[in-house]
Amino acid sequence: MSSRSRTPAMGLLTITKQKGAVMTRRLRWYGIAALCLIASGTRGLAQNSGADIYKAKCQMCHAADGSANTPAGKAKKARALTAPEVLKESDADLLAIIQNGKNQMPAYKGKLSDAEMKDVLEYVHTLQKK
Ligand code: HEC
Repeated sequence: MSSRSRTPAMGLLTITKQKGAVMTRRLRWYGIAALCLIASGTRGLAQNSGADIYKAKCQMCHAADGSANTPAGKAKKARALTAPEVLKESDADLLAIIQNGKNQMPAYKGKLSDAEMKDVLEYVHTLQKK
């Protein structure tokens, strides 16, 4: 029993010892390459996502959940994005507010691309559905 279960392990150990140096060197390169791919991949996605834009630029006033329950949100008199008045507004109207601003809401035209403003509005809609 014990010899049968030990054989594959011993074999692996021998191979590992023989090729150990080569393997580690190769694995290290594969590891570095994979990490670079993962890092660049997630960075690329994160930069364009509405969720990330919201967290970076909108959350301080509108809060993570869209409630506007933050010191800045209260000071600027931001409504909850889930308020009935906001839910009634069309995408075109909301997009216009994001582009051009309104009262204390800053304008994002020139700071965000059209696609980014649409993405962030999509993200706002996900908060409204909660
Ligand atoms: C400095 C605080 C502040 C920041 C930052 C901010 N907002 Fe606003 N936002 C406001 C205020 C205040 C209003 C309400 C404007 C009004 O009707 O008087 C508002 C209104 C809105 C509305 C319209 C809903 C409503 O209440 O009528 C949308 C949509 C919106 N903001 C989205 C965003 C998005 C998306 C971002 C980030 C790109 C953002 N806001 C960043 C303060 C802010």
